[in-house]
Amino acid sequence: MPNEIISITDQRTNQTYNLPIETGTIRAMDLRQVKTGPEDFGLMTYDPAFMNTASCRSGITFIDGERGILEYRGYPIEVLAERCTFLEVAYLLLFGELPNQAELDNWVNEITHHTMVHETTKRFMEGFRHDAHPMALLVSTVAALATVYPEARDVHNPKNRLLQIKRLIGKMPSIAAMSYRHSLGYPYIYPDNDLSYTANFMNMLWRMVEPKYVANDVLARALDILFILHADHEQNCSTNTMRSVGSSHADPYLATAAAAAALSGPLHGGANEEVLRMLDAIGSTENVPAYIKQVKDGHGKLMGVGHRVYKNYDPRAKIIKWAADRVFEVTGRNPKIEIALELERIALEDEYFIKRKLYPNVDFYSGIIYEAMGFNPAMFTVLFAIPRTVGWLAQWQEMITDPEQKIARPRQVYTGQRTREFVPLQKRGLVAATKT
Ligand SMILES: CC(C)(COP(=O)(O)OP(=O)(O)OC[C@H]1O[C@@H](n2cnc3c(N)ncnc32)[C@H](O)[C@@H]1OP(=O)(O)O)[C@@H](O)C(=O)NCCC(=O)NCCS
Repeated sequence: MPNEIISITDQRTNQTYNLPIETGTIRAMDLRQVKTGPEDFGLMTYDPAFMNTASCRSGITFIDGERGILEYRGYPIEVLAERCTFLEVAYLLLFGELPNQAELDNWVNEITHHTMVHETTKRFMEGFRHDAHPMALLVSTVAALATVYPEARDVHNPKNRLLQIKRLIGKMPSIAAMSYRHSLGYPYIYPDNDLSYTANFMNMLWRMVEPKYVANDVLARALDILFILHADHEQNCSTNTMRSVGSSHADPYLATAAAAAALSGPLHGGANEEVLRMLDAIGSTENVPAYIKQVKDGHGKLMGVGHRVYKNYDPRAKIIKWAADRVFEVTGRNPKIEIALELERIALEDEYFIKRKLYPNVDFYSGIIYEAMGFNPAMFTVLFAIPRTVGWLAQWQEMITDPEQKIARPRQVYTGQRTREFVPLQKRGLVAATKT
């Protein structure tokens, strides 16, 4: 039972309403009783971009942006990144608990045996232009999986849902690698079930004529850590899309394709690509102070800095910075890291950034690592989509089984014209024509 109440007095009617407060929220539907008369529809909230609206209850990911805390199912991200593999974390996100050894072995085995894509999918991908963006290939191909698994439409059957979840987690790296090789004109590589999730991904990306691909352990582990860090981030734009499309009970392949489409935008998954462009534009560490001055004067932004939720150092950025050093021991130092470190050093000491609580976010260092590993910027968002698929699916499953959820359907504040007199075609004047 709620034990806190907020009283709202409507100055239009002088009537007071007592609304219960639960877990720091009031229910928007409770405002509907606030009316000026029987004809009044009732009060609504107006919240473009969901700046202050909780759309669900979720037990998956916790963020405290003020303190820079990120936890999956109650475990700090730092501990998971240090102690777990990506598939272990995937299990945690989906089922709520860390697996024991037998559960983990079984889980890894099942995901590994879902990495192969149907031959029709391969042929489907061959039809794309060679210069198509890998993210567009990924979105289209994930949607096309719905044609291969029509039974996925039965979203209310828990066993069936789980099967599609395993298929999607298994096939995402395969499709991502095929998107990459397609853009280079290389033949596709079949998965190797002897390898770990990330080592197999590297195999499908980079194997050429050697009979067996041997992944570098440090790089495979770095990729695994990056996957853990990107696996979920509560109600972000793409996760909200997953829940919204899924709320109509669309099948999970189509909902995942929609979520990936949302991720593809530069304001979401594409930001790390922008960081690399910025570092290229700066060119060298001597130019950093001038660049910062330019940003402070209102010309452009420091890309990879600032966050809607984090008003402290993004905990993922700290781990990525650590992982970058491990990767550079293998690949050689990406010279852009020096520019990034100098940018961070100056920004963290500067009044402008301190006052606005602007700290490096997850994208600040991730692109530099990916580039050092040999990925071109067009692949960065695809690399994000692979692990985020786990978060999307965990959130989708939570939404489908939540009795409070219904089809997502926001309201609007209508600003157009009303009940106009119809003008027959012959009588429509020039004004209407020139408007179009
Ligand atoms: C992430 C981001 C969109 C968050 O935006 P937001 O929560 O709406 O914050 P605001 O845009 O209101 O920013 C608040 C203030 O900080 C400034 N600011 C925010 N990010 C900044 C940045 N990267 N560089 C310089 N100034 C920045 C804004 O200009 C604003 O200043 P003002 O108060 O003088 O007007 C924003 O910080 C940004 O564009 N960062 C760079 C892009 C990026 O790295 N995106 C990836 C996010 S994971």
